[in-house]
Formats: sequence, C-alpha cells, structure tokens
Amino acid sequence: MNYNFSDRMNGLQANAIREIFKYLSDPSMISFAGGMPSGDAFPVEILRGICEELFKDKDGIRGILQYGSTEGYAPLRESAAEFVKRVGIADARVENTLIITGGQQGIDLACKIFLNKGDCVLVEDPTYIAVLHILKTYEAKAYGVRSGRDGIDTDDLEEKIKKYRPKFIYLVPTFGNPTGKTYPIEKRKKILDTAVKHGVVVFEDDPYSHLRFGGDAVPSIKSLDSTGAVIYNTSFSKIISPGLRCGACIADGEIISKMTLCKQATDVHTPTLSQAIADAFLRGGFLDGHLEKILPVYLGKKKLMRAAIEKYMPADFKCTDPNGGLFIFGEFGSGINTADYFMKALKNKVAYVNGADFFAAGDVFSTVRLNFSNGSGAQIESGIKVLGKIFKGEI
Ligand SMILES: Cc1ncc(COP(=O)(O)O)c(C=O)c1O
Repeated sequence: MNYNFSDRMNGLQANAIREIFKYLSDPSMISFAGGMPSGDAFPVEILRGICEELFKDKDGIRGILQYGSTEGYAPLRESAAEFVKRVGIADARVENTLIITGGQQGIDLACKIFLNKGDCVLVEDPTYIAVLHILKTYEAKAYGVRSGRDGIDTDDLEEKIKKYRPKFIYLVPTFGNPTGKTYPIEKRKKILDTAVKHGVVVFEDDPYSHLRFGGDAVPSIKSLDSTGAVIYNTSFSKIISPGLRCGACIADGEIISKMTLCKQATDVHTPTLSQAIADAFLRGGFLDGHLEKILPVYLGKKKLMRAAIEKYMPADFKCTDPNGGLFIFGEFGSGINTADYFMKALKNKVAYVNGADFFAAGDVFSTVRLNFSNGSGAQIESGIKVLGKIFKGEI
C-alpha cells in the first residue's frame, strides 16, 4: 500500500533518546542516556498502600474508574494548585490548573493552541530534546538563544524576539535538561520583563525544581508574573513515578480553556486512577519524606559521576556540576564530534546522548549529556571509565 501521509511527517524521525531506548533492553548496558529516575527511588510501598485504600472505598473507586472531566480529577486540581506554592506560585486557582498526561502533554498542548505552520519558538541552546521534536510535528521552527553559566543571554533573547517574532519562549530554568543549570532570580526577572515588553508568552517547564540537593531554592518565573505571560508546566514523573503519566499546567484562564479543548480531542482526560494516586500522595504529605530519602542518593550519584569524570575523562572535558535534577552536560575543548564515538560506546555497553541533539540547529558536536540518576554507583564508575578510554582513543 502506498500511504499518503501528511506533509508534517516529512523528515520527522524518532528523537535520538527514543532510538537509544532500543538498546537499553540489554541488561548489561550501562545507560547514561535517558532521563529516568532511579527504579530504587520509586515509593513502591507508599503507592501500594494508597492503591489499597482507593480500592477499599467501593463508591469512590467506581467514580475513579468512570470517565472523568478533561480539566482533571477535582481533588488533584486542588492539591496541584497547593503544590505549586512550593515554587512561589501563591495564588494558583483550581480553575487555572489543568491536569495533564505527563509534562510532555503540556508542551504539546501549548504548541497546539499557539502554533501555525512556519511559526517560531525560541528555546535555550541547548534545550530539552523532545521540544525540538514536538515543534517539528507542528511544522514550527525552533531558534536557539545563547546560554551561559546562569542561563540564557537576555540581550540575545531580545534580539531574537525582534528578529523572529516567536509565539513563545520555551525554558527549563531550574535544573534544566540537558545542562542542570538554574537561572538566578535577576535573570528570571529580566526574561519576564523582556517577554512582557514584547508581548511574548514564556513557557516555564519545571519537572526538576523539587530534585534539589544543594543551593537555595529560586522562585519560579510564573511566581514573578502578574500579567498572564507565563505558562507554568510541572510533572509528577520525576518526584513520584513517570509511569503515572501525570502533571499539571498553571496558566491564565484563556490559555487553560483552549488547552482543555485540545486535550479533550487528544485523550479526553488523564487516567483518573493515576490522578487519584498522585492526589493521595500529595494530600497524604508523603512528598517531603520521599524527597528526603531520594535526594541524598541522587547527590551521592552526582558526586560519584563527577569524581569518575575527573579521574577517567580526557583533561579537556569540562562539565556542569548541578545542585539538582538528573543530568551533567559536558563539552570537549578539542572540538571532537561525540557522535563519532557513540556506536563504539554502545558496543562497549555504555549509552550516552550526543549533545548536538539538544541544540536548535543540531550543530554543537563536541558535547554530551550524561544522566547520573539511573545507574548504580558501580555502573557509574565503570561506565565513565569505559567512556574515558573511548574518548582517549584507548579502545
Ligand atoms: C524538561 C522536561 N520537560 C518535560 C519532560 C516530560 O516529562 P513527563 O515524563 O512528565 O512527560 C521531561 C522528561 O524528561 C523533561 O526533562
């Protein structure tokens, strides 16, 4: 059969990380590739207890197993509006809160309501790989804004706003993916001022704020805004479980109602059982105890990876040292192309992601992203040792 696919499928390929997943079913593979929380970090016993309680309530569970409203399970909308107070959003209202099927859906819905074919979005360079992929499905263009140690360069941002007239600016300002960077408060204010001045929406994607194991918390950009310019997107994937596929989006009512219309067409609603589990987790006060348990483990793994990098990687490899999140991002001063080493690494049972895939133009070849949360301590040590040998040309 000769299928007549839509134009938007032209040139669309699986993103690099999804491709790498194919190799990860091999149990001997050490993966620094995905953004997966550690399997050991899932609150299995708490979730088992929550499910038992939900199923004990015969009337309650029948409601949960029924179709639900697109906006979300009412108790979770309330607890999500409460949850975002942790990032300084003091006045989130339930009616401004949309429950989404993972943080990824919030990005997709924002694209759906704002983008026409050929429209532009500004992203930090480098940015979350999936955003570049989503933008292609809307036949939109991503332009990268230069970024330094403390986040995007606001002069470059303003210049590119004037040049490209973007529909929105997509940012991960806290423990960003892929770099682990966090923007200081002054930078956040400047970004907001610039966006408001030019009438551009800011999409603040924040799945990582609560994975902080060092430094002081910084308020979200959304918490600084009184104009409705910011869409705040968060997820329970990294702090409870990605398998729940549950997150929340907080924005101006007009934006939320348009996103809700599109969500209705996409999946009707986020699975209510997942929503009820996430709600009971938040409402039951389990989050703080859970974070207290997992954050020292993540800190330990980050330190191990940094130490192994110091010991085994070539001296010209410089990398970030984040206070939270799941990633270290590094660059080789020699300017090698990390893609040239990728298959050799896979053959030697170590997976990473080429940094170039995170850049809007895909053109900074000497970079890599390394995830430190998923592997064991022993795997981090031996995996980085193998990578060191490969990048030094010893394997
Ligand atoms: C920056 C960023 N946004 C969104 C997501 C998607 O999260 P979810 O699994 O909740 O869809 C991720 C996942 O890695 C991410 O890193």
